[in-house]
Amino acid sequence: MSWVIAGTWRMALEGVSKGAHMLATGASAGDAVTEAVRAVEDYPLYKSVGLGGLPNGACQVELDGAFMDGDTLDFGAVAAVKDVKNPVSLARRLSTERFNCFLVGAGAEDFARVELFEMCNMLTERAKRAFEIRSRKVRESNLSPYDGHDTVGVVALDSSGSMACATSTSGLFMKRPGRVGDSPLCGSGLYADSRFGAAVATGLGEEIMKGVLSYETVRSMGEGLDPDSASRRSLKSFIDRRIQAGRRVGAISILCCSRDGRVGVATNVEFSFVIARRDSPAKVYLVSPDGDGVKIQEAPVEWLEAYERRIKLPPEEVF
Ligand code: GLY
Repeated sequence: MSWVIAGTWRMALEGVSKGAHMLATGASAGDAVTEAVRAVEDYPLYKSVGLGGLPNGACQVELDGAFMDGDTLDFGAVAAVKDVKNPVSLARRLSTERFNCFLVGAGAEDFARVELFEMCNMLTERAKRAFEIRSRKVRESNLSPYDGHDTVGVVALDSSGSMACATSTSGLFMKRPGRVGDSPLCGSGLYADSRFGAAVATGLGEEIMKGVLSYETVRSMGEGLDPDSASRRSLKSFIDRRIQAGRRVGAISILCCSRDGRVGVATNVEFSFVIARRDSPAKVYLVSPDGDGVKIQEAPVEWLEAYERRIKLPPEEVF
């Protein structure tokens, strides 16, 4: 069977490439998504995941992450953890527990120490500077502090037909301490069932969790919808429902993969994602909303170069 791995945002490129190499050499979907997400967590210039993630309102980096195995539905997650170098690996470890599979805060950190997970200060000088700049602007210009966060979410199908998915994020920049988004919530930020497919979501967690959008997308694939239609139906029904209730809807993107390896995407904002397959190395695609559907194009070289430059700009020019 042919394998595939896909991840949210351009930041997933190196991780998806690594996961693709693993799948090509017979690794499981679970191992591939975990390593793909770890690669993003480890790179300090990706500002909303792992090391270098943007801090909360108390200038502390609090991280959320989750893992789901589509064969067994085993699920593990951590939320609001500090000082854990790779939340996704801790989440995966927890997915093997019958009880206590979702730990938060100090309890999760204690478990990580007991299990000898690598601990480190996740607040980089760059993220601290970003916090100082943004705090000043929020005070002086009445700007919303809740800006500029993306989640890495990765889905994979391996050559034996197993599926898995994982997420990791530092959540909303300057969020209230203890705030948890959709990313570690089973069915909201991620869901996998190898009988049907896997899905991950990124965007405003407070919205995504209300629509349980990853589960909805996998359920629709289970009803026979192709991945594009499944993700778009989930997104559109949710947006229609919220608008009907007189609510505003924030940014939401869904990335999914069916059990036969087709990848689908739905979004209400500009979004990018990465896919690698047996017959095609990892490539970045740009997506924009277009009516009830999306427009997709492979990222041009100029866009990729501009991205590389942008993530290295001094914090003063970014925040
Ligand atoms: N989607 C990530 C978050 O809202 O925390």
